[in-house]
Amino acid sequence: MAFWKNFFKNTQAANGPNNLASITSINSVLLVEHLENKDQLANIYISLNDKIDLYDLEKLCDAVGWVRRPIKKVKVAIDHSFLTASLFYEKNQQQQLIGFARVTSDCAFNATIWDVVIHPNFQGQGLGKALMDQTIRYLRHADISTITLFADPNVVTFYRNLGFVADPDGVKGMFWYPL
Ligand SMILES: CC(C)(COP(=O)(O)OP(=O)(O)OC[C@H]1O[C@@H](n2cnc3c(N)ncnc32)[C@H](O)[C@@H]1OP(=O)(O)O)[C@@H](O)C(=O)NCCC(=O)NCCS
Repeated sequence: MAFWKNFFKNTQAANGPNNLASITSINSVLLVEHLENKDQLANIYISLNDKIDLYDLEKLCDAVGWVRRPIKKVKVAIDHSFLTASLFYEKNQQQQLIGFARVTSDCAFNATIWDVVIHPNFQGQGLGKALMDQTIRYLRHADISTITLFADPNVVTFYRNLGFVADPDGVKGMFWYPL
C-alpha cells in the first residue's frame, strides 16, 4: 500500500490531469496505475458516472462508521445531485468503490459538497485530496464560484489545506432541526 502514498506525494497525479476536457468530456479520470505483482496491473480512477451501486456506497460509508441512512433516500439524494464522483480501485477486472463525494448546486452560483469519504485502507495517500481537486476543478469549469461544505470537526484541517475557509467575513453556517 505504501506505493500509492509515494506515488501521490511525488507526482502531479493527485491533482489529476491538467486538461479540463479530461473531466468534462469523458466519464472517468485515471489517477494512477501500476504493477502490483508480476503481470497484475492495478489502477485507481475517478468516475463521474452517476450509476452508483447503492450497496457498495453503503459498505463504504459503513467502513468509516457513518450512521446508516435509508437507501431509498440515498438514491433520491444521488439522483438529485449536480455531480457525483466515485473513486475506484481496479485489479484483475474487479472494481472496488474506495471513495465518493457528491455535489448539490443551483447550477449557476453555488455548490455544496457532501458525503466526502475514502475507505480506511486507502486513506492518507492523497486520494481524498485528488477526489476533492477533481470535484472543484469540475465546478470551476461549470463557472460556479461559491463552493461550500460542512466539515466534521476532525477534518477541518483537511479542508483548510484544500483552500476552504471557516466563517469567511464572520458569516456563520446555521442549521434548523425539527425538535
Ligand atoms: C477526510 C478524508 C476524506 C481524507 O481523505 P484521505 O485520502 O485520507 O486524505 P489525503 O491523504 O488526500 O490527505 C490530504 C492532506 O490532508 C491531510 N489530512 C487528511 N485527513 C486529515 C484529517 N482528518 N485532519 C487533518 N488533516 C488531514 C493529510 O495529512 C494530507 O496532508 P499533506 O498534503 O500535507 O500530506 C478521509 O480521512 C475520510 O474518508 N474520513 C472519514 C470520513 C469523513 O470524515 N469525511 C469527511 C466528512 S466532513
